[in-house]
Amino acid sequence: MTCFPLLFSKSSSSARHDPEIDEGIHNVKLYSYKQLRNATEKFSPANKIGEGGFGSVYKGRLKDGKVAAIKVLSAESRQGVKEFLTEINVISEIEHENLVKLYGCCVEKNNRILVYNYLENNSLSQTLLGGGHNSLYFDWGTRCKICIGVARGLAYLHEEVRPHIVHRDIKASNILLDKDLTPKISDFGLAKLIPANMTHVSTRVAGTLGYLAPEYAIGGKLTRKADIYSFGVLLAEIISGRCNINSRLPIEEQFLLERTWDLYERKELVELVDISLNGEFDAEQACKFLKISLLCTQESPKLRPSMSSVVKMLTGKMDVNDSKITKPALISDFMDLKVRRNEESSIDMKNSSMYTTSSSDNHDSTMSFATTTTFAAIYDESM
Ligand SMILES: Nc1ncnc2c1ncn2[C@@H]1O[C@H](COP(=O)(O)OP(=O)(O)OP(=O)(O)O)[C@@H](O)[C@H]1O
Ligand SMILES: [Mg+2]
Repeated sequence: MTCFPLLFSKSSSSARHDPEIDEGIHNVKLYSYKQLRNATEKFSPANKIGEGGFGSVYKGRLKDGKVAAIKVLSAESRQGVKEFLTEINVISEIEHENLVKLYGCCVEKNNRILVYNYLENNSLSQTLLGGGHNSLYFDWGTRCKICIGVARGLAYLHEEVRPHIVHRDIKASNILLDKDLTPKISDFGLAKLIPANMTHVSTRVAGTLGYLAPEYAIGGKLTRKADIYSFGVLLAEIISGRCNINSRLPIEEQFLLERTWDLYERKELVELVDISLNGEFDAEQACKFLKISLLCTQESPKLRPSMSSVVKMLTGKMDVNDSKITKPALISDFMDLKVRRNEESSIDMKNSSMYTTSSSDNHDSTMSFATTTTFAAIYDESM
């Protein structure tokens, strides 16, 4: 893990007036609100590139000429200065080819703003899974590079960073692509540092419907294996070029994992490969990747391989053990997902974020959990 030296620039010294900030920061570059306002032309709507669960993202040019993605956290995601800086310190120390780089942040008054390296080619959800509304073509080689790159980035977070980091929100919209289509895992806003000596961490289940490991969604059990489940879902999406849930498809095809398992049992996995590849792909490799996806999504977390093993399997350095594959854990089996019963539902679940809710009166909502809401997450080092 790379540790940065102190990075305070003269121009950011105006942000350093609060002793709490001085105390909390070790290696984070601080930007003043004014600097970021200038970089984004007063946070002009023309520079807004997106909006997620945590706030709005703007494209901006910093004083040193670097182009940045500037994420202005919304009021709800505002933490206290100390908590915020603790997380930022963790993120700032992490550097890897397949992880988005955090340049720094702004913590002036009520503002909590993150400044990231800007990635030119948007996210996998808007490109590969975006329904053909973009000019990028993902050939087989590119898809392999993306799968392996994401696996490497996650293996780094899970196994090389100390203490380990569970991302908690691995999904297509959090995989950004640079100009060469190298994948970078983004959004460490949900990532929590889990000290090795802590067995229990109170948190809330975050993540997105369809990517959630059932033991995390239902029991709040947070382990690296929950990320590995999400990675397995993402892997099947990249090979098939479709979203993990698509309510517009015939009922038996709506859930990607269910479909993958079905085709695996019939020894017809190759049918799942994206037809837009026009048959130009390595069928053996594609089936192998889909089997790895099934391994990663096994119901028992203990049966899911570690991310370093996944990297080895994807790169051909380790065999994929077919005999270990059993039916994957399907979130639809565990939750009150009424899509099947509610034929009138026209909800497009492709991008539906599934955050916990404390409302008890939304139990009729198409996507609500039947269970309760705030969970104690348990971190289990053995997994
Ligand atoms: N570093 C970046 N470079 C380029 N675009 C980015 C960057 N970070 C975010 N974006 C874009 O900004 C948009 C919003 O991102 P954000 O992470 O806030 O939300 P999200 O990932 O879509 O959803 P969620 O809040 O559930 O994570 C996305 O479309 C993403 O493509
Ligand atoms: Mg995101």
